[in-house]
Amino acid sequence: MSTNYDIKDIRLADKGRFRMQWAAREMPVLDQIEARFAKERPLDGLRISACLHVTSETANLMRVLQAGGADVVLTASNPLSTQDDIAATLVAHYEMPVYAIKGEDNATYYQHIKAALDFKPHITMDDGADLVSTLHKERRELLDGIIGGTEETTTGVIRLRAMAHDGELMFPVVAVNDAMTKHLFDNRYGTGQSTIAGKRVVVAGYGWCSRGIALRAKGLGADVIVTEVDPLKALEATMDGFRVMPMAEAAPQGDIFITATGDINVLDQHHFEAMKSGAIMSNSGHFNVEINIPALEAMAVEIRRVREFLDEYILADGRRLYLAGEGRLINLAAAEGHPSAVMDMSFANQALAAEYMVKNHASLAHTVYSVPQEIDNEIARLKLAAMGVNIDVLTPEQEAYLNEWRMGT
Ligand SMILES: NC(=O)c1ccc[n+]([C@@H]2O[C@H](COP(=O)([O-])OP(=O)(O)OC[C@H]3O[C@@H](n4cnc5c(N)ncnc54)[C@H](O)[C@@H]3O)[C@@H](O)[C@H]2O)c1
Repeated sequence: MSTNYDIKDIRLADKGRFRMQWAAREMPVLDQIEARFAKERPLDGLRISACLHVTSETANLMRVLQAGGADVVLTASNPLSTQDDIAATLVAHYEMPVYAIKGEDNATYYQHIKAALDFKPHITMDDGADLVSTLHKERRELLDGIIGGTEETTTGVIRLRAMAHDGELMFPVVAVNDAMTKHLFDNRYGTGQSTIAGKRVVVAGYGWCSRGIALRAKGLGADVIVTEVDPLKALEATMDGFRVMPMAEAAPQGDIFITATGDINVLDQHHFEAMKSGAIMSNSGHFNVEINIPALEAMAVEIRRVREFLDEYILADGRRLYLAGEGRLINLAAAEGHPSAVMDMSFANQALAAEYMVKNHASLAHTVYSVPQEIDNEIARLKLAAMGVNIDVLTPEQEAYLNEWRMGT
């Protein structure tokens, strides 16, 4: 058992191990990578500090990194997404230092991130870029030892690209989110499957996640309204059959509001003022900034927890608005997050991106790189193999034809 950790209760370890093994049944891509890593040990002697949602799927990624020879420490990437039994199992059965407690306050959350940095990583593995930004702001003495990092989600990639643009990013990072085998499945299908759906549903955004949510809500029979700021996405939503309008117009109509934009104050005070009594709000974007919670609190005369993960805000005019999961990404805060089969591919990208970083860091600049096409293709190939699906290969004649510009009809 690891001696350095801060988790809720070590006695939950056996329950966690059972759930971790259950998830592994749906993660054949990671299994195939683990078998190769165990033979080749591409991460031998490297320390990896991972800041990810502490779920049964993440635990399986940690196991694969260990098989590749890495020493790994894990800290939470969100105060409300930790599965406490999984944290316990990694400590008890995988001798892994873990710093994560579901419901931890902000101060504890950052203490945990700093504990993961004390591990002096060679590689950072981030989800939302809190680890990398804390490192650059407060622990710059560690920069010398770092060869590179990986980043899981859209919000993290946006922050890292901003750092690179300002010349502030001090090591190369692979944006796992950019892989098709990540965002097509994880953001679109995963977030769509695991996020709340219902009656007249207003979905803010029509990006990878929000498109998935809108699609599932429609499939569940909801009357779905989409709001956007990007004309192309708004046009796509219209062509897909959704009603598109500004949030100010949607606010009085919606029964359920779901934000997944990566943006701030998408639901704001003037929207709360227009909403129907009984409206439910939730967020599936990375940070709890998409719904202006301080403004909602200021408007409320009473706030009560009416059931787990649902708070009732009673306003001065008697209307009641509901906020699910404290505005934190709802599928991980109030449920178990994505299906394991989806995270299998996201985390296969993390594992292979770490291996890529070890092999190529010397020739990489301090900026954000997309996942190389070969890795995306390799993961798609492994997934198809695991599903027993075969596909055609280009004949030499077809390959030549597709590279030819002289030949017309
Ligand atoms: N809950 C999960 O499990 C999960 C999984 C993956 C990603 N994420 C997070 O979800 C968020 C969205 O990720 P994505 O990959 O869908 O990003 P994306 O860039 O594909 O989509 C975001 C969309 O929101 C739109 N948008 C921005 N501001 C808006 C506003 N004020 N009103 C309406 N629309 C607005 C953008 O135009 C864009 O189309 C990010 O924070 C990401 O990190 C969550």
